[in-house]
Order: sequence, then structure tokens, then C-alpha cells
Amino acid sequence: MGKYYLTTPIYYVNAKPHIGSAYTTIAADVLARWRRQQGDAVFFLTGTAEHGTKMAEYAKSAGLSPQQFVDQQSHLFEQTWQKLNIEPTDFIRTSEKRHEEAVTIFFTKLKESGMIYEKDYEGLYCVGHEAFIKESELTDEGLCPDHKTKPERVREKNWFFRLSAYSETLKEKIQSHTFRIEPAERRNEVLSFIEQGLDDISISRQHVSWAIPLPWDHEQTIYVWLDELFNYCSAIGYGTHEATFRQWWPADLHIVGKDIIKFHCIIWPALLLAIKEELPRRVFAHGFFTVNGHKMSKSLGNVIDPVELAQEYGADVVRYLLLRDIPFGNDGDVSRERMTERYNADLANGLGNLVSRILTMIEKYWPDFAFDYATMQTRPGVQTLQTTVSIHLESLAFEKALLAIWETIRLADERIETTKPWQLAKENKTTELLKTLEDLYEYLVIITEALSPFMPQTSHTIRTLLTTRPLTKPATPLFGRKKA
Ligand code: MSP
Repeated sequence: MGKYYLTTPIYYVNAKPHIGSAYTTIAADVLARWRRQQGDAVFFLTGTAEHGTKMAEYAKSAGLSPQQFVDQQSHLFEQTWQKLNIEPTDFIRTSEKRHEEAVTIFFTKLKESGMIYEKDYEGLYCVGHEAFIKESELTDEGLCPDHKTKPERVREKNWFFRLSAYSETLKEKIQSHTFRIEPAERRNEVLSFIEQGLDDISISRQHVSWAIPLPWDHEQTIYVWLDELFNYCSAIGYGTHEATFRQWWPADLHIVGKDIIKFHCIIWPALLLAIKEELPRRVFAHGFFTVNGHKMSKSLGNVIDPVELAQEYGADVVRYLLLRDIPFGNDGDVSRERMTERYNADLANGLGNLVSRILTMIEKYWPDFAFDYATMQTRPGVQTLQTTVSIHLESLAFEKALLAIWETIRLADERIETTKPWQLAKENKTTELLKTLEDLYEYLVIITEALSPFMPQTSHTIRTLLTTRPLTKPATPLFGRKKA
């Protein structure tokens, strides 16, 4: 038993949540629930990134002030997570006072470290990325390859951070796994960035007004990405609630998408080294979704809304479907057709059918069923599946953990087919019949407990069915079949 501090990226609020941001947040919620189940004290943080030119522009076109706009948008994220049964310990917003205070303290410390200097800077700035972009990265037409927009040439006085001074220390910490980056492919990618040589980075902006002021130069504001990275410290009380901060820091796991590893695996640890704080223990970068083979984008009209999915299938089903098929570090494709197929096969015909069959048989053949859930939970079978699930979740292999649970569902189905309780009843083989029903009930306990971090509401419903006497089959199917 120990403490476990895990985080998701904080999401830009210019668009509403999509299945990409839901994916990261669901994964983190599953891990948080699993760790709690193991007895750890867990702090699970998510939130929203609300500063920068992009946000101010969106606010303007919506006819709102930046604060009004981000308030409205951030609320959408909180609501969406609730609708997906996601329960973060805290939700941090970069426009909150507590965050701005902590960032101001952090920057004052950074200045004192002697790793900050002033210089004139000229470069190409992509507003979509809120980052400078190299000439060599542009398309032949001179556009940002991701946003297909022309970056602005910016020339201004900026403050810089000596990122270049940290190459060797970072390399050593990554190679020795003191600072774990996973999967290995991403670690290699980070090491090769470092190998190519790190440039110092600009940490302030002259013309971005919707941002936190630089404490020692009020002509400038803090570069939004650095303000955002610091959410991981500000949320747990950096600079203001020292004891709470020490209780949780360092983060045990930052879950991020593979698009933002440079920020999390190079810039973030270097900043922490400069202010003499411990590095996070681990960063895991997951892959990206495409929809029917295409990148998700507003212009293609193929953005999948997780709230609509939850309305159609139920929140727990969305959690299951998003984590079931694609290994977490890989890219993968999703489609509504495949989701429906999986839903019918694994949930309607699989789990839902099994629960209903077993309860129907107990109801019919053994109305005075005498075993209780709590006692069953301590049996070795429950522990065995939990151990397997734990091994997979330790390496964020959600799909393998789910596969192990569904293998248990298959075994339970097989047990019904081979023992044929209805036959045993017909032949009056009472001892065998009762033993079989007891085993089948135990299977349900095993499955319900292992499933609970993934599908908390479903697990709760099945647990209620299994603890209410007399045992009765569900009044309506747990998962009604859907038309393909
Ligand atoms: N604000 C920064 C993060 C700062 S963290 C200190 C940012 N925000 S974002 O809104 O663009 O969200 C990025 C994250 O959303 C990605 O890292 C990833 O976790 C998730 N995803 C966005 N699109 C995705 C897919 N198509 N597929 C999977 N995840 C995706 O970057």
C-alpha cells in the first residue's frame, strides 16, 4: 500500500471533448479505481488548459470574454467526464487563482536558478500548436503540417530557459529508468531528440495577453505550455500547501498522447531539475485514434462525441469499447460498426447473458442459495484473476486485462455447457447440482470484482443482484442487443 498520483494532460477548451480526450481520461480513471481497489491512496488529476491566443480568438468569435468562454467550455469537460463515470480527485483549470499563484512562485524560483536569460528572438509560431515550428517542418506550401495554416513570423524580446544544459542529466535519468518513458518506442524517440541536441526554449511572450504575467517583467506573459505543464504541481498545492504537495509529489504516472512527449519527457523534467524538484516516476504515451481510417477532424465531420456514444450504449460500454481493442501504446482505428459488433458479442451475448443464465438457474433450482458474496470474494479464484488483471494494468495493457476477464466469462459459459445443470436437476443429482451452482456464482463474483475498475456501474449492478436475497435474474437484460 502506498500513494499513487496520476494525471492526464489538461485539455484545450476551444473544442468540446472527443473520444481522443475521453480515451486518455477513461484510461486514467480505470487505473485510479484499480489502485484504490489494491488499497493505495490515489490522487487522480485532470483538468483544462485555458490560456493563449487560440483561446482568446475563439472567445472573440463566440462574442464572449476569454474568462466567460473558458468557464463555459471547461464545464463541458467536467460534465462529460461525469457522464462517462470518470471520477477525478481534482479538476484543475489554468485560469484559476490557485494555479496562477503557484505558477508565479514557480517562475520566481526558475529565475533564481540562474537558468533564465533574455534575448531577441525571431521564429515561426503556429497558433494551433501554441508553439514555435521549424522551417524544415513546414509543408512545401509553407504550412503547418498538422493545422494546414500559415505560421506567423514573430520577432520579439523573449526570456529563455537553458534547456540545452540538461541533455546529459536527462539522458542518464531516462537510460537508467529513474525517469521511465513508455512504451520503449517513445523512450527511443525521446533519446534521439536529445541526441540531436537540445535548443534553449523561449519561456515568455510579448504579445499574448490572455496568459499569466511573467513575475519580473510585466511586458511579457508566460508561455502557455509551461503554465500548463505546471498544473501537475499547482493542483497539489505547490508553493502554498507544502505538506499536501510533499504528500503527493512526485507524480507516479503522467498519461499523455504521443503528440506531446517532447513537452513531457524533455521540457518538463528539465524545468523540475532547475527548481530542484523530483522528476515524475513515469510517463506513458498512448497512440492516436483514427475513425474509419481517417484522422478525426471537424472538417471531415467524423469527430465522435463520447456523450452521444454514452447515450447510445451506456457509459460503461464506452469505457469498455475504447479500451478493448487497441493496445494502449499503439495507434488504432475505430468505427461504429465494429463497436456495435463488439457490444453484441461481448456484452449482450457475453457478460449480460452469462449473468442472466446463472441467476435464472439458481432462482429455479436453488431458491435458498446460501453462499454470500463477501465470503466468496476471499476465495483463491477471485485473487487469481485479480493478480492477472493487476499484472496487465501495471503495464497499462488494458486490452490484455479485459481479455483475461472475458476468458473467465468464456470458461464460465463452458462450465454451464459441460455440467448441464438442467440435466443434473432432471436426474436428481442434487449434490453435483448445488456444487455447480455454487461454482457458477463464484465465477460471477470473480468477474464482477475484476471488472469493477473498467465498468464501475455495471459491476455495482451485478453486485447488487448477487447480494440481494432471494437471488433473482435481472428484470431487464443488462445489455439489450443492438441492430448491426
Ligand atoms: N493542453 C495540451 C496539454 C497540456 S498537458 C500539460 C494539449 N491539449 S489537447 O487538448 O490538444 O489534448 C491533447 C491530448 O488529447 C493528447 O495528448 C491525447 O491525450 C488526447 N488526444 C487528442 N486527440 C486524440 C486522438 N485522436 N486519439 C487519442 N488521443 C488524442 O495538448
